[in-house]
Amino acid sequence: MQTQVQQTATSSTDTFPIKGTDYIEFYVGNAKQAAIYYQATFGFKWTAYRGPETGHKDTVSYVLEQGKVRFVLTSALRPEHEVAKHVALHGDGVRVLALWVDDARSSYALAVERGAKPAAEPHTLQDEYGEVCMSAIHTYGETIHMLVERSGYQGVFLPGYEARSNEFPIQPVGLKYVDHCVGNVELGDMNRWVKFYQDVLGFKLLITFDDKDIATEYTALMSKVVSNGNGYIKFPINEPAKGLKKSQIEEYLDFYRCAGVQHIALATDDILFTVDTLRKKGVDFLYVPETYYEDVLDRVGQIDEDIKDLQRLNILVDRDEDGYLLQIFTKPVQDRPTVFYEIIQRKGAKSFGKGNFKALFEAIEREQEVRGTL
Ligand code: FE2
Repeated sequence: MQTQVQQTATSSTDTFPIKGTDYIEFYVGNAKQAAIYYQATFGFKWTAYRGPETGHKDTVSYVLEQGKVRFVLTSALRPEHEVAKHVALHGDGVRVLALWVDDARSSYALAVERGAKPAAEPHTLQDEYGEVCMSAIHTYGETIHMLVERSGYQGVFLPGYEARSNEFPIQPVGLKYVDHCVGNVELGDMNRWVKFYQDVLGFKLLITFDDKDIATEYTALMSKVVSNGNGYIKFPINEPAKGLKKSQIEEYLDFYRCAGVQHIALATDDILFTVDTLRKKGVDFLYVPETYYEDVLDRVGQIDEDIKDLQRLNILVDRDEDGYLLQIFTKPVQDRPTVFYEIIQRKGAKSFGKGNFKALFEAIEREQEVRGTL
């Protein structure tokens, strides 16, 4: 999925250059059906496949792409396979946040030397289209960072995958790239994982939100955002904070059974079109009451969009010193209340919508109440 610009800008603090998010891999119960969901609703293109038909016996993987966003959906064909066990415990969720690097061997060696827990030694995969070198390190929960060096590869995705295409018409919704990926970690663990990204990958701490920034009458959470030098990789990390009722982070941890990816923010240049299309295709979004729109322009000032369109589509808006942003959040996209998506359009703003936190968390609480998990 790469990033907007192909060159590698490196900050002096980066442990190794990262050119962008290479792919995000989900372990799911039924990849065949999940792939149809992403094609029919989000308008992803099916580009590659690996499974028994391509000589791979134990798992199937569907590769889906839109703009620079690349998802891989993987299911096991046998119950004893690690993918099946992962799904049994966590439900459908993100296993791999793959980072696109220049050199998967030296990046891995540096990360491990700085304290990363190894997940896969550097290894080279080959086919007639060239070779890819990959290695992996653990991050929070059971999530791993695959380090992917693909400069020597011309194939559709990775060696072993065959090209595929959609078997029915799809309508892309204008998704461009992964803006950020958020992790939920256990109480007391946020600083440990922020330190991991700082010490091991050389990331910078961008923003800190405490429980006063992110609190409603009933629940609270804390969040810190880390980023690599070129800003292509942004990882907010949340932990629950004490409140009168159970926070959305605790609900996630109860259902996912460990720390993991909470939401993936996908960027668009035209959020009105993206959200209008997603709604028509059946994607469910969190509901923010009409009262949100009564004073929103007093808070954010002049914007290009008609407020009536934002209200009709229930899109939120926030401003920081650099500009403004438009955002909206889906409901969880699987039965367990775990992973969901954010659709975001940045018009200068570099932040994460702090002005919307209260309205947003109240919306999540209403959903929790319906589920009986507040
Ligand atoms: Fe977000």
